[in-house]
Amino acid sequence: NATSLKDAATTFSVGMITRDSYINAGGKHTETLKAEFNNLTSEYQMKMEVMYPSEGNYDFSAGDVIVDFAQANDMDVHGHALIWHNATPSWVENFAGTDAEFETMVEDYITTTLEHYKGKVRSWDVVNEALEDGSGHPLRNSVFRQKMGDDYVKKCFQFARNADPDVILFYNDYNMASSPTKREAMFNLVDGLGDLIDGVGAQMHISYNGPSAANIQAVADGTVSRNLKLHFAELDIRANPEEDPNVSSLSTTRANAQKDKFKEVVQIYNAIPLDNKFALTTWGVRDNESWLLDFWGVPDWPLMFDENYNKKPAYTGFLEGLQ
Ligand code: G3I
Repeated sequence: NATSLKDAATTFSVGMITRDSYINAGGKHTETLKAEFNNLTSEYQMKMEVMYPSEGNYDFSAGDVIVDFAQANDMDVHGHALIWHNATPSWVENFAGTDAEFETMVEDYITTTLEHYKGKVRSWDVVNEALEDGSGHPLRNSVFRQKMGDDYVKKCFQFARNADPDVILFYNDYNMASSPTKREAMFNLVDGLGDLIDGVGAQMHISYNGPSAANIQAVADGTVSRNLKLHFAELDIRANPEEDPNVSSLSTTRANAQKDKFKEVVQIYNAIPLDNKFALTTWGVRDNESWLLDFWGVPDWPLMFDENYNKKPAYTGFLEGLQ
């Protein structure tokens, strides 16, 4: 039987996020990355506010640490994320030039970034979370939409495609499984991109008790029916979605429920056709380093490894999902 996640997942990459600081620290973080994973996503360091801190001034140094580590350890790198309203540098938010100059700036940024990482970053989230939650209009009113128009997503994909015809281009968003209306809006957006897009990134920030297998399957089915690659891009599975502030540890019952959900997600992903497979990425190694702890402000244990890098039942659930 397989000795690691990457050995067990023979038809797709098993992804993990990392940071330059974690790689520089080495230790059990990098040992775990090397033992279990073959695809890396930068948690933060390949976002616009880091790579393009001021106009005309690029800083790829943090992303390069991740890329160099991946190349030294035979791992692919997934670039996350060229355009995201939540990681846009303030100089871009406050851009003083004309709309045409803004668009040229964005094209230069995407071109420069893809050229820097050409041959080292296999895939990119070109645009992340462009879709509005809940409201009528499907697109958030980001500075990109304001200055480049409603078709800014297509323009950004075109810039990326022009810069590197070989890189795999994704649209990435969240609540793809838990919100059928947002899922349909995403597929409508994707349909408008034609052959500029290669894949769909469904973040998969979910809970032990939802969304349902049927809703997760609907994400896979909609992607496969469009002949696109599917990236389950940011999987974590909350064990305390009730947001109980007093829960002090992960109970055996809840750990096993979380294990079952990991197994279900992996089974659904593993069942899609080979041509539509890309990677299944979890959003963090250790429970205590998950973004969810700060985001919700309550205890949680959403990942496959505990704070001592020990494998949890969730890890076993991932492996069982591959059988
Ligand atoms: O590294 C700097 C540090 O130098 C500085 O002193 C400190 C205080 O400003 O900030 C540190 O950077 C933080 C970074 O995480 C650490 O890597 C940023 O402030 C903080 O905003 C950033 O948060 C990340 C967040 O995206 C925003 O970029 C989280 O780690 C990351 O888990 C989260 O991931 C997002 C995905 O990209 C998109 N989907 C949702 C997901 C969760 O929000």
